[in-house]
Amino acid sequence: MPPKPRRNDVPLLYNIILLLNVVSLVSSKSTIEPCSNSDSCNALLGYTLYTDLKVSEVASLFQIDPIALLTANSIDISYPDIENHILPARLFLKIPISCSCVDGIRKSLSTHYKTRPSDTLASIADSIYAGLVSADQIKEANSIDDPSVLDVGQTLLVPLPCTCFNGTDNSLPAIYLSYVVREVDSLTAIAARYSTTITDLMNVNAMGSTAIKAGDILAVPLPACASNLPRYASDFGLIVPNGSYAITASHCVQCSCGPGSLNLYCMPAALAVSCSSMQCRNSNLMLGNVTWKQSSAGCNVTSCSYGGYVNGSIITTLSTSLQPRCPGVQQFPPLVIPPTTVTGDSSFAPAPAPLSEGGGKLPKTIVPTTGSLPGLAPFAGAGVGAPLGSASDGCSLMNQLSSFGGPLVLFLLLASIWVPF
Ligand SMILES: *[C@@H]1O[C@H](CO)[C@@H](O)[C@H](O)[C@H]1NC(C)=O
Ligand SMILES: *[C@@H]1O[C@H](CO)[C@@H](O)[C@H](O)[C@H]1NC(C)=O
Ligand SMILES: *[C@@H]1O[C@H](CO)[C@@H](O)[C@H](O)[C@H]1NC(C)=O
Ligand SMILES: *[C@@H]1O[C@H](CO)[C@@H](O)[C@H](O)[C@H]1NC(C)=O
Ligand SMILES: *[C@@H]1O[C@H](CO)[C@@H](O)[C@H](O)[C@H]1NC(C)=O
Repeated sequence: MPPKPRRNDVPLLYNIILLLNVVSLVSSKSTIEPCSNSDSCNALLGYTLYTDLKVSEVASLFQIDPIALLTANSIDISYPDIENHILPARLFLKIPISCSCVDGIRKSLSTHYKTRPSDTLASIADSIYAGLVSADQIKEANSIDDPSVLDVGQTLLVPLPCTCFNGTDNSLPAIYLSYVVREVDSLTAIAARYSTTITDLMNVNAMGSTAIKAGDILAVPLPACASNLPRYASDFGLIVPNGSYAITASHCVQCSCGPGSLNLYCMPAALAVSCSSMQCRNSNLMLGNVTWKQSSAGCNVTSCSYGGYVNGSIITTLSTSLQPRCPGVQQFPPLVIPPTTVTGDSSFAPAPAPLSEGGGKLPKTIVPTTGSLPGLAPFAGAGVGAPLGSASDGCSLMNQLSSFGGPLVLFLLLASIWVPF
């Protein structure tokens, strides 16, 4: 049965699959989002730990900020010595990454892995990166001719799956989780677990049927709080999933989403770092402060809110609005203590036992090849792309892909493809 393109029925699918040259005999499927510009967005990877790992080790496996890893999972960062806390094998984590557009397809190319003795491409793909990548994809990304000879200490690019879909799902702000299907999963259970519907998952992933298999990678939309930061801010495009936190502005500002309203709420982060002023100009209000006065016309609400991180400065904006009702006390998503065991809880659900080979040892020397972890502002530079389908995007896409012809370009712009990889 032919897969259906997302939100747009175009009967050219097979041609496009051939054009993209993504058909192979391997049976796992994954969702491909064609893209047209160099913008990137925030995305999440659903990752299951293959062994016990410190917070900092998980972070360096993906070359991300450990604090961003913790806040994305609502883990309390005020816990003592949190970066050295050991997270248990089989724990499910959401890994915040930046999703870019590479050769017309959304993917993340910011992860590198330094090989250790006894690594094989299969163990790196299936065990260490928990099925988020295949051995063939690593082989291809690194132009490896003979996968049986991996030098120890060799640095490999690990391409990882991600989607942006314009930061929306059904016109509401959303961030996309790349989810590796497990043996025990059904589409119904995944939809329930992430508070979405089967129809939505099928649309997003351009699926022709509800059949899924272990190893397939689904794009799962998570409702989120979008930001409205200016393009010149280094954290432009900041988007925070419901029920979690993000840290930004060089660890100075913490933003949360939910549980009540899906309006992004930012306030000073309780981390011992030196920060530029977070006071709103011409007022005594600090970032995150909201005051109100009941008047005959309604509730006069004044708030000092976050306007982005610009050239090392925290931008604050003071705004006053007349609202029908006065706001209540700000609600925060519940924080969890750093997990030490894997429970049956839905956010930290157990995954199948990791591959036994090479799974028992704690890697001590996972070194990011760039030599430096990304700065302390995890979302810096990771902007949500300009709206797909705007006139200018259409033009640049035309230029890039001019040989493909118009209708095809339109299709590529609007569709995702659920393809074997
Ligand atoms: C956000 O999360 C809260 C609790 O986790 C839930 O009650 C609420 O329905 C969620 N909102 C949306 C829009 O999913
Ligand atoms: C304003 O925000 C600061 C920092 O979060 C907080 O300490 C203070 O209590 C707040 N003041 C009011 C009036 O809400
Ligand atoms: C709301 O309050 C601010 C200052 O507290 C005041 O300047 C403004 O005029 C008030 N607006 C309304 C509509 O009452
Ligand atoms: C940031 O600083 C650079 C040079 O220091 C300046 O050219 C640029 O305009 C500044 N950006 C903003 C938004 O202030
Ligand atoms: C992308 O999202 C923006 C709002 O965030 C919306 O205005 C625009 O229409 C969307 N574009 C597409 C192609 O969905």
